[in-house]
This record gives sequence, C-alpha cells and structure tokens, in this order.
Amino acid sequence: MRKAIYPGSFDPVTFGHQDIIERSSVIFDELIVGVLNNSEKNSLFSVGERVSMLKEITKDIPNVTVDSFDGLLVDYMKEIGATIIVRGLRAVTDFEYELQIAQTNHVEYPRAETVFLTTNLKYSYLSSSIVREFAAYGGDISKFVPSQFVDRIYEKSNRKQDGPTAVKNSK
Ligand code: PNS
Repeated sequence: MRKAIYPGSFDPVTFGHQDIIERSSVIFDELIVGVLNNSEKNSLFSVGERVSMLKEITKDIPNVTVDSFDGLLVDYMKEIGATIIVRGLRAVTDFEYELQIAQTNHVEYPRAETVFLTTNLKYSYLSSSIVREFAAYGGDISKFVPSQFVDRIYEKSNRKQDGPTAVKNSK
C-alpha cells in the first residue's frame, strides 16, 4: 500500500496544485493532501477554508483525502502511516530548497522518501503568492485557480472582481 502525502500551504490552491494532486493520485494507492496549519496571521485563508477548498476539487477522486497538520511533517507522517512525500518542482530555483527539506525529512525519518513531480509546463510560472498578489491589485486570476474560488479570493483580498480591463483603464 503506497500511502503518500502532498503537503503544502495551499493559500490558495491553484491549478498547479490541482495538477499535481490528480497526477499523484494515479501513482499512489492513497494520497493525503496535508494543509500546514501555520500562523493564520499572514494567511489569506484560514486552514479550515483551505481544507474545504481542497475537498471541493478532490471530491471525485476516491483515493484522495484532505487533512491539516501542525508541527513537523515527519511527525504527522508517522501518525498516519505515510512514507512518501510528493512535491512539485516548477523550475531549478525550487530545487535547492526542496532538496534541503527532502534531505532533512529523510534524516529525521529514514522511511520518508520524497518524490518530485515536474510541474506541467502550463503552470510552471504559477504560485499561490502570485495569485494573492494579482488578486490584491484586481488582476485577472481566472487562469490561475478553479473558477469557483475566484470570487472568494477577491473577497478575501478586499477587491471587487474588476479584472484586467479595469486595471488597464486605471492608469
Ligand atoms: O506550500 P509550501 O508553503 O511550499 O509548503 C511547505 C511545507 C508545508 C511542505 C513545509 O513548510 C513543511 O513541511 N512544514 C511543516 C514543518 C516541517 O516539517 N518543517 C521541516 C521541513 S525541513
């Protein structure tokens, strides 16, 4: 039984995350999407909101569940019996940080193996922080996140959904 965890902040979930979830669900028997319960002070969405958005987009994938965790990833993995960590690699700039985390996790928990999936080229530029930044300035985020989340993200960013036209005209 290959039980994997795809950990992250998912603030908010993007098409890039969704792509990694769908592809890993085919590779592993069971996939847990683990939302880090980090300090919510700097987060756009609460951990509960992030979990619920992920549940919405994974509801039709039977071997995927969504949960949140506190503290060290390896401790959570021991608790749930997962040994595989899935992470997406967008570009070489991600690699150094990801390698360091993967190696640290492996030292702390030798059964933990990290598997990297290269991000779909369509989403290689995409990150949650780019989405937050675009939303904050009223940019068009419809190409970045599932459609049902667009309004929620604008609301959280205290922006109306004015899109790129309004931004252009405001110059
Ligand atoms: O989406 P992110 O923010 O890049 O995800 C980072 C995450 C959640 C995978 C990483 O910060 C993490 O695993 N945090 C939990 C605490 C932990 O185990 N830290 C040690 C890793 S060296």
